[in-house]
Amino acid sequence: MRLVLLGPPGAGKGTQAVRIAKAFGLLHLSSGDILRAERKAKTELGRKAQDYMDRGVLVPDDLILSMMMDHIARPGAAQGALLDGFPRTVAQAEGLDTRLAARGWKLDAVVNMEVDDADVTRRLTGRWSCPQDGRIYHEQFSPPARKGICDDCGAQLTRRKDDEPTVVRQRLETYHAETEPLVAYYRGRSILKSVDAGGSVDQVTAAIKEACRGL
Ligand code: AP5
Repeated sequence: MRLVLLGPPGAGKGTQAVRIAKAFGLLHLSSGDILRAERKAKTELGRKAQDYMDRGVLVPDDLILSMMMDHIARPGAAQGALLDGFPRTVAQAEGLDTRLAARGWKLDAVVNMEVDDADVTRRLTGRWSCPQDGRIYHEQFSPPARKGICDDCGAQLTRRKDDEPTVVRQRLETYHAETEPLVAYYRGRSILKSVDAGGSVDQVTAAIKEACRGL
């Protein structure tokens, strides 16, 4: 099965992707996490992506498409993949369709996580993440047992630079201008499944599982 989680920054894509990938036995591929790993490793791709990410705008489509297809084509993803944060433009979606079709594959569903801008802003400005294992926390909605410390590995939690309020505003603008048109794109292909992502983490997981039942 090949699924996409679509939604604004802070919709909870990363939080839900971990749960849904586990439930359906899929490999979780997050374009944002892959880009951050490239930056950490100081690769050429990481250096090229850095400025776009820090400004809250999209990394060019050609870089993203080749990076993501490289991961999608790896043996670990052959049984199924959950794409988180990709595609993010109509050009990326068209490129993905073409490249999947060349392998005899297709997307089974695109889950559109609907949350309003005020909620996602609250979520992003309270987010903390573990730099070691990637676990995501929120200071109010899903805090760690000990403030600032990862429950799983004991590492010191960090904040993402692009969660600073002015960058969050830019990311939301970018989402509405460049990513939201994908809702119509996938509705037109009859694979869009919209879920209310404004509830609790458990409620949203249940809604996504329900939307994907029978795939
Ligand atoms: P990326 O890392 O993909 O960021 P994003 O899409 O903006 O999404 P986030 O990771 O910020 O949020 P999320 O939806 O995963 O929410 P989370 O689960 O963490 O991209 C970063 C940058 O990389 C982009 O700006 C761009 O420059 C570049 N990039 C990436 N992909 C690209 C592409 N395809 N093309 C071009 N450029 C690309 O949750 C957020 C917070 O809310 C957490 O604190 C969490 O605990 C909390 N929370 C989650 N669910 C709930 C809930 N139900 N109730 C209450 N709190 C909740």
